[in-house]
Amino acid sequence: MAAAANASTEGLMSVNQPVKLTMLMLLSLLLLSYGVGSIQCATVLANNTDMSALLDFRAIANDPTGALGSWNSSIHYCKWRGVTCGSKHPEQVTALNLTGYGLSGPIAASVGNISFLHTLDLSNNQFSGQIPSLSNLQKMQFLNLSFNSLEGHIPDSLTNCSNLRLIDVSRNSLEAISLAYKSYVWDTIIYREAFQKSLGICQIYRYYCWVGISYQILLGGNKFEGHIPTSLGNASWLNQIDFSNNTFTGQVPSSFGKLKNLRSLNLERNSLEANDSQSWDFLYAMTNCSSLQVLSLSLNQLRGYIPNSIGNLSSVLVQITMSGNMISGVVPPSIGNLQSLIQLTLDENNLSGTIEEWVGKLTQLQNLNLQLNHFTGPIPSSIGNLTQVTKVLLGTNQFEGPIPSTLGNLERPTVLDLSQNNLQGNIPPEITYLEELFYLDLSSNKLSGEIPDGWGKFQSIQTLQMAQNFLTGSIPQSFGKLESLNTLNLSYNSLSGVIPTALTALQSSTIDLSYNRLQGGIPTNGIFENTIAVSLNGNWGLCGGVTGFHMPPCPHVSERSKRSYYLIRVLIPTFGFMSLLLLVYFLFLLKKRSRKSYLSSQDFGENFPKVSYNDLAQSTRNFSESNLIGKGSCGSVYRGRLKEPDMEVAVKVFNLEMRGAERSFISECETLRSIQHRNLLSIVTACSTVDNTGNVFKALVYEFMPNGNLDTWLHYKQDGKANKRLDLNRRISIAVNIADVMDYLHHDCGRPTVHCDLKPSNILLNDEMTALLGDFGIAKFYADYGPAPRGSVSSVGVKGTIGYIAPGKFNTCLDHL
Ligand SMILES: *[C@@H]1O[C@H](CO)[C@@H](O)[C@H](O)[C@H]1NC(C)=O
Ligand SMILES: *[C@@H]1O[C@H](CO)[C@@H](O)[C@H](O)[C@H]1NC(C)=O
Ligand SMILES: *[C@@H]1O[C@H](CO)[C@@H](O)[C@H](O)[C@H]1NC(C)=O
Ligand SMILES: *[C@@H]1O[C@H](CO)[C@@H](O)[C@H](O)[C@H]1NC(C)=O
Ligand SMILES: *[C@@H]1O[C@H](CO)[C@@H](O)[C@H](O)[C@H]1NC(C)=O
Ligand SMILES: *[C@@H]1O[C@H](CO)[C@@H](O)[C@H](O)[C@H]1NC(C)=O
Ligand SMILES: *[C@@H]1O[C@H](CO)[C@@H](O)[C@H](O)[C@H]1NC(C)=O
Ligand SMILES: *[C@@H]1O[C@H](CO)[C@@H](O)[C@H](O)[C@H]1NC(C)=O
Ligand SMILES: *[C@@H]1O[C@H](CO)[C@@H](O)[C@H](O)[C@H]1NC(C)=O
Ligand SMILES: *[C@@H]1O[C@H](CO)[C@@H](O)[C@H](O)[C@H]1NC(C)=O
Ligand SMILES: *[C@@H]1O[C@H](CO)[C@@H](O)[C@H](O)[C@H]1NC(C)=O
Ligand SMILES: *[C@@H]1O[C@H](CO)[C@@H](O)[C@H](O)[C@H]1NC(C)=O
Repeated sequence: MAAAANASTEGLMSVNQPVKLTMLMLLSLLLLSYGVGSIQCATVLANNTDMSALLDFRAIANDPTGALGSWNSSIHYCKWRGVTCGSKHPEQVTALNLTGYGLSGPIAASVGNISFLHTLDLSNNQFSGQIPSLSNLQKMQFLNLSFNSLEGHIPDSLTNCSNLRLIDVSRNSLEAISLAYKSYVWDTIIYREAFQKSLGICQIYRYYCWVGISYQILLGGNKFEGHIPTSLGNASWLNQIDFSNNTFTGQVPSSFGKLKNLRSLNLERNSLEANDSQSWDFLYAMTNCSSLQVLSLSLNQLRGYIPNSIGNLSSVLVQITMSGNMISGVVPPSIGNLQSLIQLTLDENNLSGTIEEWVGKLTQLQNLNLQLNHFTGPIPSSIGNLTQVTKVLLGTNQFEGPIPSTLGNLERPTVLDLSQNNLQGNIPPEITYLEELFYLDLSSNKLSGEIPDGWGKFQSIQTLQMAQNFLTGSIPQSFGKLESLNTLNLSYNSLSGVIPTALTALQSSTIDLSYNRLQGGIPTNGIFENTIAVSLNGNWGLCGGVTGFHMPPCPHVSERSKRSYYLIRVLIPTFGFMSLLLLVYFLFLLKKRSRKSYLSSQDFGENFPKVSYNDLAQSTRNFSESNLIGKGSCGSVYRGRLKEPDMEVAVKVFNLEMRGAERSFISECETLRSIQHRNLLSIVTACSTVDNTGNVFKALVYEFMPNGNLDTWLHYKQDGKANKRLDLNRRISIAVNIADVMDYLHHDCGRPTVHCDLKPSNILLNDEMTALLGDFGIAKFYADYGPAPRGSVSSVGVKGTIGYIAPGKFNTCLDHL
């Protein structure tokens, strides 16, 4: 009897005034667990039972690291590693904490014999198999079996552990076997409340009820499925529910509204549904959960609209996360009532409407994530009210209007992502007040004007992206002071001027300045020695730099001598060739047409039809082999039929992996948009975009020439059969056509142009056998005309491809179309 009496005092150690009833009940429980017959020798047995249970545990578990090495008879078992005994009764094991011991194998059923155990923490091992029956552990309050590989179900016998406050079995492979079983567990939890009330357990364990111990049921990261039982709503003492990372289906039960003590509900990563307003009723019901602080419903199958009642949720709510559902409609402005909100994450839904009415009211917000939705309207200036905010993620929406200058009021933002919207106007200079930024992304908007300067104090920024806007002016010098930067992306803007030498200081970064209008010499030191880290493509005014950039050297000679150099290298061979053609021309006395009318200064984009990648894919039957009419190393040419304008076309798709292909595209665009002649292959339009897989896609669209190119007429290529014949008249007429267009290019097109690759395969024949000159992939303007030269002629020299008319270096990108 002594042991039982001792035991009950142990259990009641913090009782101020004994509660007779309680003692009696506990006593009877103990009697039950020990069995009446063993009472006399309880002192001896207690020692041995616990010890043998532990030894049994050790014998069954795998202990590869020898963590249980101290579990031997030469030491008292209360001193064994991970074992704690009661303070008053040193023989009774009260806690077994083996977290992170690297143990595996099954958990011995003998653990269920350590009857005074109140803490069992076997978390973070590799225990497998089933959870043993723990029915005798009536004192157990804290059960942590998380981060193991346990299978099967939570044992029914846990229902006997009526003091359990925390069940953490998350991160195992447990699965519910039947609904009946599950409701049994829930009912037990409910039963436990009744039990605790009748025992006045709060009075006994006064310490915990003061301190506000949390009642938690954590089942996250298992294989539970089926509906969440409605009866769980009866467990009104619960403080925390974590059912995340399972496959629960059906609706969130409205009975959760009865969980008055609930502080945190995490149902993330399940397959919970809501499709109509009725299935959102739980949110209305939960307006009664006045202690609710955290509500997480991310990554489920919630559809439909967020109800207005969201604004009536608890006034202490600090976190709402509903990311990755299919929620549509507007965010009810009543959300602005939730003045305690610190985190609001609604990203990856189909939400629309404006955020104007509510966002500025959530003045405690630290984390606002609305990206990947369809929000419209302006980013309101009231966003400056969120002075505590650290993360603002509004990317990939349809926000429009200017970036509010009040963003400068934010006191400690670290992440600001406004990318992929329709924001317009200038980047407000106030953005440079946000010195603690770590990540800034303004890319893919319609921002214009100059980038404000004054970035010198941004000591933490790692990512700075402003790509794909309409920014002009020069790159701020102060970018060079961003010591922590590892990504700077300013590509696809209209930035001009020289690359500031200050940027050489950005040693450990990647810098993308491609597709701008930068000019002058590329710095040669610091980061600019690394051609992998720095992208400068599409800036045709740049020169010099280390050899890996393949840029023309910067001119060291005076303009005048440079000019005469060109004359010698370029003009003499060209004129020689031209005079020959002109001679033919005069001999046959053909009429020259007026050329003035062919002059044009059209710009790509405005006067040319806009075609998308899909238009071209459609017109060429997805660039099928059967539509392929020519192939070269710069790319492939497909025959196709455009819908708008309705015409037969040849689509030249550039193979951008080939060196020079990019340049060839630009060069051809530049040339063809500024010249036009009846003997020039006329361009329908150009298309520079990304394909359906996100890769850069560049193509030129020409009128289709039914008679192919001259080369195939001159050389009998069709199965060795001479199925194409050119009589003398035809040949002369072709020569005249070409002489005519060459004359135009060199003298009359306003901006003298050298084709650089005149050869039969670049001469196309239309249905009337009129010759048209094509392929301006390596054409050059004379350097002394017009604005900045597109690459320096002097460095490239006269060039062309196999078979072309003047000798010279071969271009790396051979084109035999
Ligand atoms: C028992 O454990 C102690 C402590 O780890 C160790 O020093 C001792 O060698 C062990 N005894 C036996 C017999 O394994
Ligand atoms: C069993 O308990 C007694 C005291 O109750 C203690 O002296 C003895 O060392 C214990 N035996 C072992 C093997 O721990
Ligand atoms: C178990 O021990 C670890 C440290 O070894 C401690 O962090 C953890 O809180 C303990 N568990 C319990 C339930 O006391
Ligand atoms: C628990 O202890 C009893 C004796 O009290 C013993 O008969 C039984 O085998 C033990 N169970 C386990 C699983 O060790
Ligand atoms: C259970 O143990 C794991 C791993 O040791 C720990 O991360 C977790 O916080 C514990 N659960 C509770 C509720 O303390
Ligand atoms: C609960 O404990 C009692 C007495 O110890 C026992 O008779 C009963 O079978 C246990 N229930 C379960 C589910 O293990
Ligand atoms: C749920 O999964 C996420 C993502 O894998 C993980 O970060 C989180 O810790 C998991 N939680 C639980 C309780 O399994
Ligand atoms: C639990 O709640 C349901 C309604 O949700 C009710 O029908 C049932 O009687 C309750 N059970 C207990 C044990 O209170
Ligand atoms: C809505 O979802 C419930 C399950 O949550 C389903 O039973 C019902 O058929 C769904 N209704 C519609 C219209 O899809
Ligand atoms: C909130 O609780 C009260 C009584 O406790 C009840 O009358 C009311 O209907 C509940 N509200 C909701 C939305 O469930
Ligand atoms: C919110 O609660 C107030 C009273 O507390 C009530 O007047 C209002 O209608 C409720 N709003 C919603 C949307 O439930
Ligand atoms: C939010 O900011 C606007 C100005 O941007 C101001 O008029 C309004 O009073 C502020 N609201 C709160 C709640 O601070």
